[in-house]
Amino acid sequence: MKIIQTENYQSMSKLASQHVINTIKQLNKPVLGLATGSTPEGLYQHLIKAYRMHQISFANVSTFNLDEYVGLHKEDKNSYHYYMQKFLFNHVDIPYKNIHLPNGIAKDLSVECTSYEDRIQQAGGIHIQVLGIGRNGHIGFNEPGTSFESQTHVVDLDESTRNANARFFDSIDEVPNQAITMGIQSIMRAKEILLLVSGSEKAEALEKLVNGNVSEEFPASILQTHQNVKIIADKAALQDI
Ligand code: GLP
Repeated sequence: MKIIQTENYQSMSKLASQHVINTIKQLNKPVLGLATGSTPEGLYQHLIKAYRMHQISFANVSTFNLDEYVGLHKEDKNSYHYYMQKFLFNHVDIPYKNIHLPNGIAKDLSVECTSYEDRIQQAGGIHIQVLGIGRNGHIGFNEPGTSFESQTHVVDLDESTRNANARFFDSIDEVPNQAITMGIQSIMRAKEILLLVSGSEKAEALEKLVNGNVSEEFPASILQTHQNVKIIADKAALQDI
């Protein structure tokens, strides 16, 4: 794992964007794995800026998001579909057909999980997977205890994760209890992983990810075994290392 320290959130986001921009420029049909949460918002702003300045086009880009809440419609302002439209897709030239997120209101969720995995494979796999990390070490919505062999699947969300994400909802009761997430193995198949970490509240998790045992009890620890991981983290997040 290569760890790159930046001064703050802004410089983390900028550096991450340069990395993603290079990937988009280098490949004919780039496939990006994308994440939600507060952490990648700055990255997406920089990508929009690069598009507006004609540095990149998303016309040939395909995207696969890590996860989606079960039970939320695409138009629900708390769905990850909505988040992605708002923070990136509405502002760039990506064709709608190239955008992929799990469908959280699919009639048969297990069919949806299998077909999502198939769609990733059909696109040729993910070139660069953007990741954030939860304080309990979750990646995507793979909570502690998730099998390292897991593919896209339905998860019951930890109470701690629901609490952490409650800030986006009107009340904790509105936070769904389940989500569809790419599995650990689906994430690990990406050719490159770009993990973004910002802020002192993530310092303990980052320390455990870098120095702890590789264990299903701390899902992000699996990244130690991936051949091509870059961690871009700010000073505050790296304070325990
Ligand atoms: C959510 C998402 C994760 C994300 C995590 C951290 O649970 N499913 O993909 O990495 O939150 O979010 P934040 O960046 O807001 O701290």
